[in-house]
Amino acid sequence: MKVKQVNIAPNGPKLSQLVAGTMTWGEWGVDYSPEQMAMMIEHCVELGITTFDHADIYGHYSTEATFGEALAHIGGDIRDRIQLVTKCGIRLKSHRRPQNRLKSYDTSKEYIIRSAEQSLTNLQTDHLDLFLIHRPDPLMDPQEVAAAFAHLKEAGKVLHFGVSNFTPTQYEMLSQCTELVTNQVECNPLHTDPLFDGTFDQMINTDCRPMIWSPLGGAKYFKGEGTSVLRVRDVAKSLSSKYGNVGEDIILLAWLLRHPAGCIPVLGTTKKDRIRDARLALKTDLDRQDWFALLEAAQGKEVA
Ligand SMILES: NC(=O)c1ccc[n+]([C@@H]2O[C@H](COP(=O)([O-])OP(=O)(O)OC[C@H]3O[C@@H](n4cnc5c(N)ncnc54)[C@H](OP(=O)(O)O)[C@@H]3O)[C@@H](O)[C@H]2O)c1
Repeated sequence: MKVKQVNIAPNGPKLSQLVAGTMTWGEWGVDYSPEQMAMMIEHCVELGITTFDHADIYGHYSTEATFGEALAHIGGDIRDRIQLVTKCGIRLKSHRRPQNRLKSYDTSKEYIIRSAEQSLTNLQTDHLDLFLIHRPDPLMDPQEVAAAFAHLKEAGKVLHFGVSNFTPTQYEMLSQCTELVTNQVECNPLHTDPLFDGTFDQMINTDCRPMIWSPLGGAKYFKGEGTSVLRVRDVAKSLSSKYGNVGEDIILLAWLLRHPAGCIPVLGTTKKDRIRDARLALKTDLDRQDWFALLEAAQGKEVA
C-alpha cells in the first residue's frame, strides 16, 4: 500500500499523507552519511512517503547539506518525485554560526530571504515546495515577512509558505498579509493544546491541514517514565491487539489521523521498518471510545 498525496490547502501543495522528518537523520541523531541518507530517501519514496521535513538548524546547520548530497547521489529525476519542506527563523548558538551570540529568533526580510537561499544551496535544489517560519518571533513584523515571501515566490525559489508553533492569533495576523498553507505544531495524547486552543479549529475553517511534529511525543511513550506516559502506553498496548496487533506507535498515529483537521504526521523515526509500518496507521480507524480512552489516560481523568 502506497501512501497517498493530499492537498494541504486549497491552492496546494500536495504532500504525502505521512511526512519523513529529518531532524535526527544527521548530527542530531544517527548521523547518516549521504549514501545512507540516499537509501532512506529511496525507501520512503518507494512507500509513497515523498515529502521530507527539514529545518536549517537540524544537525547544527548541517543536515540539509547532507540530504542535498544524498539527492545528488541518487540523481535522475528524484527531485521531481519529492517535496521539500524547510524552516527558518531560529538562530542557534553554533560553531557553524559564530555570529549568533545567543539563541534568538529572526524574521526580518533579509534574514528570511538569506535563509531560503542557503537552504536551496544546501539541498541542491532550485525551489522549496514549502517554507515555514519555525517559531513565532515576538519582534515579527507581518508586512516584512509577507514582503520576504513575495520576493521568494516571484523569484520561483519557494512555492508555498506556512508557519510552525504559531498561536491561532499569530497565524491570523500573518495570514492577513500573506497566504499561509499550514501551521506545523506538536500534538500527541500528552500534548493536546492544538485540539483545545483553536489551532485545529482554525485549520479546519481555513481548509488547511496541520502538520504534526512529535506525533509520538519524541521517544517519550517508549522510553519515558511518569504516570501519564505509563497510562497512555498501557491503553495503547491494550488497543494494539484489538486493531490487528499493530504496534503502539501505530495506535498513537491513528489517534492523530482520527481528528477531522486532517493531520499530516511528521514521522521522527530513523528506522526503515518503523517508516514502513507507519502506513498501517492510515487504515487503523480508531473508534470514538478508544480515541477518548487514550485522551483519558493522558489526562488522568475522564472528560468533564
Ligand atoms: N516544527 C518544529 O518545531 C519541530 C520540532 C521538533 C520536530 N519537528 C519535526 O518533526 C519530526 C518528528 O519529531 P520527533 O522526532 O519528535 O517525532 P516522534 O516520531 O514523536 O519521535 C521520534 C522518536 O521516537 C522513537 N520511536 C519511534 N517509534 C518508536 C517505537 N516503536 N519504539 C521505540 N521508539 C520509537 C524514534 O527512535 P528511532 O529513530 O530509533 O525509531 C525517535 O527517537 C522531526 O524529525 C522534525 O522533522 C519539528
